[in-house]
Amino acid sequence: TGYFTYDPAFTSTASCESQITYIDGDKGVLLHRGYPIEQLATDSDFPEVCYLLLHGELPSAEEKEQFTRDITYHTMVHEQVSTFYRGFRRDAHPMAILCGVTGALSSFYHDSTDITDPVQRMIASHRLIAKMPTLAAMAYKYSVGQPFVYPRNDLSYAQNFLHLMFSVPAEPYTINPVLCRAIDRIFILHADHEQNASSSTVRLAGSSGANPFACIAAGIASLWGPAHGGANEAVLKMLTQIGRPERIPEFIERAKNKDDPFRLMGFGHRVYKNFDPRAQVLRKTCHEVLGELGITNEPLLDIAMELERIALEDEYFIERKLYPNVDFYSGIIFKAIGIPVSMFTVLFAIARTAGWIAQWKEMIESPDMKIGRPRQLYTGRPQRDYVPLDRRN
Ligand code: CMC
Repeated sequence: TGYFTYDPAFTSTASCESQITYIDGDKGVLLHRGYPIEQLATDSDFPEVCYLLLHGELPSAEEKEQFTRDITYHTMVHEQVSTFYRGFRRDAHPMAILCGVTGALSSFYHDSTDITDPVQRMIASHRLIAKMPTLAAMAYKYSVGQPFVYPRNDLSYAQNFLHLMFSVPAEPYTINPVLCRAIDRIFILHADHEQNASSSTVRLAGSSGANPFACIAAGIASLWGPAHGGANEAVLKMLTQIGRPERIPEFIERAKNKDDPFRLMGFGHRVYKNFDPRAQVLRKTCHEVLGELGITNEPLLDIAMELERIALEDEYFIERKLYPNVDFYSGIIFKAIGIPVSMFTVLFAIARTAGWIAQWKEMIESPDMKIGRPRQLYTGRPQRDYVPLDRRN
């Protein structure tokens, strides 16, 4: 049946052509449409980065205004969606809820499931970027027994997210601009990362012609794992488990021990072998946020910084080029803002929706789009004859 290459875990296979994101893992470079992530994180804002990912260029002032209108137009969800939430257990993990409700959007917005219509493809993109904060915050509100909060279109994307999370009918949330900027920056830093597991999942699901809501739900499922987006939650749990700096060497030894499944969460990356530029921005943001909140003593930050210092001097981590990744510092920022640990990966999903949908659109609009169909190396039994039940032993 011909030859094909065997590349388990796709360590050296390019699955597509893309013009969206460029990574040079050896040099720690990450560019979106050519723009360095450090510049975007400092000077841009998340909606602008969404526009850039989707359209290929930064928007003009007029385009930016129109894009903001396009997004805010879609921030509400169909009222019936709220009854969908009420079917979940109150202690359900918000990623489980997000996965379910995002997939269910295709049953609410039939018009945008027509992937052959470019106008509907764009509306689906706007709907997903706009509704994700609403859906995410509803999962949180449901878990704490508070009423769902409606989005406010006079607020920015990040402000609106904080409002959805923390306002209650009795009292609107007072939005701190430094915290808001931190959330916006985290959204920018997580917006896209070329062919990671979840983006590849979205592409593979979409290659069959599945509708965009179903594809993004598939991406959310893939993101949830601790080796991918679930790492931000796992980092905070690990830092809490370490508890005090004196116990760090014990955990470093465990991470190095091949008989122990424990890994340093928030460390290592398939592509970055020098440093993760996103982690560097986040380390700075982390100090800014704690400073703004007047948190002078955050034991988890002390443990994180000491863990990073010890690991970066350890031969095991040096040899294997293991550095802190984007998930290492984000959790400490989220915790300081008051976001519960179970919501960490949900925030990653909100941001990555921009990259997923941009990549889905790029794939659908590519002239040589084909269904993705990896091959395998069969290592099972050769052909043999069926054995009737009374003759099996
Ligand atoms: N702690 C201890 N050892 C590690 C770690 C770690 N965090 N990461 C990799 N190694 C070791 C691994 O055991 C292997 O050693 P050896 O060559 O002796 O067998 C070597 O480093 C190479 O690791 P690998 O598993 O072959 O590398 P990979 O490219 O398949 O995995 C990774 C990349 C990110 C899944 C992995 O580094 C990891 O599990 N890190 C912890 C989870 C994490 O932080 N994930 C977030 C990734 S960044 C954001 C995102 O994608 O969502």
